Amino acid sequence: MMQKVTIATLKQMKSTGEKIACLTSYDASFAKLQDETGVDVLLVGDSLGMVLHGDETTLNVTMEEMIYHTRLVSKVCQRALVISDMPYKSYTSATQALENARRLVSEANADMVKMEGGVEISEAVSLITQDGIPVCGHLGLMPQSIQELGGYRVQAKTEAEAEKLKQDAISLQASGADSLVLECVPAKVAAEVRDLLDIPVIGIGAGVDCDGQVLVVYDMLGLSEKEFKFSKNFLIDKGSIADALKDYVAAVKNNSFPSASHSYE
Ligand code: KIV
Repeated sequence: MMQKVTIATLKQMKSTGEKIACLTSYDASFAKLQDETGVDVLLVGDSLGMVLHGDETTLNVTMEEMIYHTRLVSKVCQRALVISDMPYKSYTSATQALENARRLVSEANADMVKMEGGVEISEAVSLITQDGIPVCGHLGLMPQSIQELGGYRVQAKTEAEAEKLKQDAISLQASGADSLVLECVPAKVAAEVRDLLDIPVIGIGAGVDCDGQVLVVYDMLGLSEKEFKFSKNFLIDKGSIADALKDYVAAVKNNSFPSASHSYE
């Protein structure tokens, strides 16, 4: 029996400098292969609204869909830690957030839930973590706020925005969050956030200095229509999906992914 990746494992990886390899996962076949090829964390992301359903945004994803896909992933995972996204409008109040976080754990076996936002969700994060449910924060480009952000673009580019992001990160940690995803922020800002926090920071488009990396699995296998600067097609030089997944894990662990060309200044 493989040793399960736990929150303690992730914290230890941060302290020893071993990078955390994370990928999105939405079904049992991919999850089994990802688990077997050494991916440490599987994120059942609400990106499924875009890559599985073909929507333009993540805003139509429901709790029922998150429960369904998280259950498919968690039932075959022996080693990887499973994070499940709280979908749009599923945490508009602290009590609603707690109720929905409990559903992702009890009905779908999530090990951790992920929520987008900073200071404004601190009450919800505190209530959930005090209930014993681990939370992963998500800052920077927050796809559930795409209308307010006005498009998918790099965040925290000004000093004031970077400072706000740091305060949000500190607030999430103080509220009990056990990890943080940072999406599309300058590499220097991400490195500063990583240094500020005791909890692991997992980046996507956030430079090589984060404690770990995450990509949408369809992007790193070249299945997505668009090519993103922060992603890389790991399948193109490999003969199989299993080898592409192994290559991704190795590249994250040996710091060769992301390179400067996948990062923002
Ligand atoms: O939904 C998702 O897949 C995500 C990742 C892009 C971090 O939140």
